Amino acid sequence: MKPVRHYLQFSDLSHEEYQFLFARSQVLKRRQGSGESHRPLVGKVMSMVFEKNSTRTRVSFEAGMAQLGGHAMFLDTKSSQMGRGEPIEDTARVLSRMSDIIMIRTFEQTLVERLAEYSRVPVINGLTNEYHPCQVLADILTFIERRGDIAGKTVAWVGDGNNVCRTWLQAAKVLGFKLKAASPRGYELTVLDGVDYGPDCFERVAEPQQAVSGADLVTTDVFTSMGFEAEQQARLAAFADYQVTPELMRLARPDALFMHCLPAHRGEEVAAAVIDGPQSVVWDEAENRMHAQKALIEFLLLGRRQD
Ligand code: CP
Ligand code: NVA
Repeated sequence: MKPVRHYLQFSDLSHEEYQFLFARSQVLKRRQGSGESHRPLVGKVMSMVFEKNSTRTRVSFEAGMAQLGGHAMFLDTKSSQMGRGEPIEDTARVLSRMSDIIMIRTFEQTLVERLAEYSRVPVINGLTNEYHPCQVLADILTFIERRGDIAGKTVAWVGDGNNVCRTWLQAAKVLGFKLKAASPRGYELTVLDGVDYGPDCFERVAEPQQAVSGADLVTTDVFTSMGFEAEQQARLAAFADYQVTPELMRLARPDALFMHCLPAHRGEEVAAAVIDGPQSVVWDEAENRMHAQKALIEFLLLGRRQD
C-alpha cells in the first residue's frame, strides 16, 4: 500500500511538487471557468473539522469537493463529540473509516499531527496557531498568475509574526524567494521547525518601511489572530504603526501586489485605499483557495493527473 501523504505544513511538499500543483490549479481553474465538468471524486467524502470560525476555508473546500464530484461534511466542536472531550486519536480513527480525506482547522499544530498519525487517509491543515499552508498555496498561485515565477522575488510582511507569516517563511525556503518581515517588538516571527533560514531567505527588520522597500509583494494580516482575542487591546497599541498605507506601498516596486488572507480590518492593519485599490489582489486570493485546494485534494487522493 502506498504511504498516505498529508499536508500539514508548507514544507511537506517539494519544489517540484509545487510546480505541478500550480500548473494543475490553473488547468482546473480554466476548466471550471469554461463550464467543463471534471468529476474524478464521485463517491468520495471529505470530513471538515472546524474548531475555529471560517468563511473562505469552509466554502472553498466544500465548493471544491462538490465541483470534483465528491461531498464535504462539516463538523464543529460545539455539535460533535470533540467538544465533549473525545480524544483526537479516536476522532481520527473514526473519521478516516468513513471519509477519504480530512481537513481540520484547530489550535495547536500538534493536534493536527496527532490526527494525521492516527488517520488512514490524507489530512490537510486548514489553519492552526502555527501554520496556514493552504492560504500561502493560493497566494503564490495568485502571484504566479499575475507576475510569473516567485523565485528570486522579495515578499514583505508587515505586522504580526503569526501562522500566515510563518508559512510564507517556509514557502520562501521551498520556492526560493526572500521574506522580509517587520513586526513590533514581542510579536516577531519565531521559527518552530528547526530549519536554518539563511539571510537570502529571511530578514527580520524593525520598521515596515525597511520591509516594504523594493518589495515585489506586500502582505499583512489582522493584528489579533483567532485564539488571541484576550490580547486585543495590547495588540491594538503595539501595532499602531504597522498599517499598510498608500505611503508605505509607494516604497515597494511600482508593480508590487498587495495581499491579505482576509478577513481584513480596514483602518487597522490596512488602509481602505490599499485593500480596495489597484494593487490589491485579495479577491483573487480568496477565489484561488478553491482552485489550489482542488488541485491539492486531487494530488493527495489520485496522484499526478494529467487529464
Ligand atoms: N483566509 C481564511 O482562511 O479565511 P477564513 O478564516 O474565512 O477561512
Ligand atoms: N492569522 C489569522 C488568519 C485568519 C485566516 C488567524 O489565525 O486568525
